[in-house]
Amino acid sequence: MSNYLPEDFIEEVRVANEITDVISEYLTLRPKGKNYFGLCPFHNEKTPSFSVDPEKQLYHCFGCGAGGNVFTFIMEQERLDFIDSVKLLAQRKGIPLPDSIESPQDEEAKKHKDKLYMLNRETALYYHENLLAPHGRHALEYLKSRGIDQRIIKTFGIGYAPKSWDSTKNYLIGKGFDTQLLTEAGLILEKNQREYDRFRDRIMFPIIDHRDRVVGFGGRVLGDSSPKYLNSPESSIFNKGSVLFGLNLARKRRPVDSFIIVEGYMDVITLHRFGIDNGVASLGTALTMEQARLMRRYTQNIYTAYDGDTAGQRATLRGLDILKSVGCNARVIVFPKGMDPDDVLVNHGVEYFNKLLHDAMSITDFKLDRLQAQYDLDDQEDKVEFTTRAVRILTDVENLLERDIYIQRLNNLTGFRPELLYRYVEQVENRGGRAGLKKNKIGNNRHTTPIRKARIHVAANIKAEMHLIRLMALDDGIAKRIIDRLGDLQFEDPIHVKVADIIKELLSRDVEINPAQVLNYVQDDQLRGKITEIFGMEMEYDNVDRYIDDCIGELRRSQLEKRRNHLMEQISRMDEVQEHNSEEYKVLVEELSAINRMTKLDPFGKEEVM
Ligand code: CTP
Ligand code: MN
Repeated sequence: MSNYLPEDFIEEVRVANEITDVISEYLTLRPKGKNYFGLCPFHNEKTPSFSVDPEKQLYHCFGCGAGGNVFTFIMEQERLDFIDSVKLLAQRKGIPLPDSIESPQDEEAKKHKDKLYMLNRETALYYHENLLAPHGRHALEYLKSRGIDQRIIKTFGIGYAPKSWDSTKNYLIGKGFDTQLLTEAGLILEKNQREYDRFRDRIMFPIIDHRDRVVGFGGRVLGDSSPKYLNSPESSIFNKGSVLFGLNLARKRRPVDSFIIVEGYMDVITLHRFGIDNGVASLGTALTMEQARLMRRYTQNIYTAYDGDTAGQRATLRGLDILKSVGCNARVIVFPKGMDPDDVLVNHGVEYFNKLLHDAMSITDFKLDRLQAQYDLDDQEDKVEFTTRAVRILTDVENLLERDIYIQRLNNLTGFRPELLYRYVEQVENRGGRAGLKKNKIGNNRHTTPIRKARIHVAANIKAEMHLIRLMALDDGIAKRIIDRLGDLQFEDPIHVKVADIIKELLSRDVEINPAQVLNYVQDDQLRGKITEIFGMEMEYDNVDRYIDDCIGELRRSQLEKRRNHLMEQISRMDEVQEHNSEEYKVLVEELSAINRMTKLDPFGKEEVM
């Protein structure tokens, strides 16, 4: 159904349209636990059974079974087809439509990009090997002097660009890449009709995107000379504002409960070295909306950990507003002046860092602190100006209890009466004129009869299948692992087969996997409702791989049991007609006893699981 718009574009539109925001334009949602609830727009009801899960970006009605992602919601509400619902949501966020809809040129472009990815991967391997070669000794020594050991070097794929004008170029040409591609990737430069290596005698950090593709490089000098860093230029696969260094690693930890945004390569790496594996870097530039949304897909909780200097503080302020605007819950880790996270960890240790993390400030606290530093509160005029500006900051605090805390703080600082401060905040707020009313468009009663869902007993293997399906939809890596380990085991439930097929198809096309994305490919409403319900299931486990093994063990056990029942039936039928001398009978009995032996040895068939 999505043949006419590029997948990347569809996903960009989906991510830009936060599902609770979109649905709130049609009905009133109230928070309850991790989700939001409201009256279902798809059937008549008096008590809310329509839930929206902001983490997974899905909705599901417990009353009528409707469910899906932001596109299907718009399809149902606005009675549009898939393509038009994508277009409507693109418009809602001002995202321009791709000028040519999926055409042979797109195919070409995609192939070309794949070549660039391949080139970069090959280059990263080359740099990595050079770091471990004799002529990379001094680079390795430099890394060692900064506490970076073999494990970290491997984890980040760190390398070394040799001190030569053409080694890298020659190596890559030897591998069959042409100079034009090398130029495009920014690996070589041209001067006086001669091409030469861009990166020479530098420590190389591959920049890997959240889909594990090498999109570019950052190269650091070995000493103090300048420029300290040289980065790959932007290209069709490298856009500085849309990648975060380290996200490929940070997004893989389970659960992803928070990210720490830092400024540079070394900060992410040092955090890792000290066991803190959720650092990501915006590579020395201001955080973009796109980066913020990218993070928001994995978690709402973001810490900023920029330098303690004024430039760092300004970056923090801008970053905070961006994070807030995409629905993140942002907090600021405040560092001593002139120190970055790397310096803090190296000089004061991880305990001190954790203390700073623990004391991280809310956006409002951070803004008020900075504001206060500019005024002398013993001076009447300063006090009035400070309070006026502080009041403006408080209008952003939506939670009234939180607001109360800040007002008490302001009262302590300035001596202005709390009642007065409240009135002032409200006055400024009203003048700001928040457009309050939301349109309420209930009345599309297509599914007027709620489908009652009987809570019947679900067989253990079907449950295991459900869990596997839900895990597969989480991300590409997990999906691949599950498919790998399933081998030729088949799912029994046709719905699960269908979802697994969709995921396999997406993997083969290298499309990113997440629950909301998978739902783009389910047309049938009822089916979609059921799948959404599976995706929304709560699961508890502390080791995802062990959990996968347990589920697969359950499938294998159940499959053997079915085979056994089948064999026993056949054997007894043959017994009845006195056929136990036939060759076929012997084969069946042999298989049966093999199964019996296996299931007795280990009822879960685990001995076969790696
Ligand atoms: N940066 C850059 N070009 C430069 C300087 C900095 O692209 N000439 C980017 C890099 O992504 C760098 C980040 O800005 O990681 C932060 O810069 P800085 O704090 O100077 O570097 P660190 O990462 O702290 O590196 P080091 O600790 O080795 O000095
Ligand atoms: Mn540093």
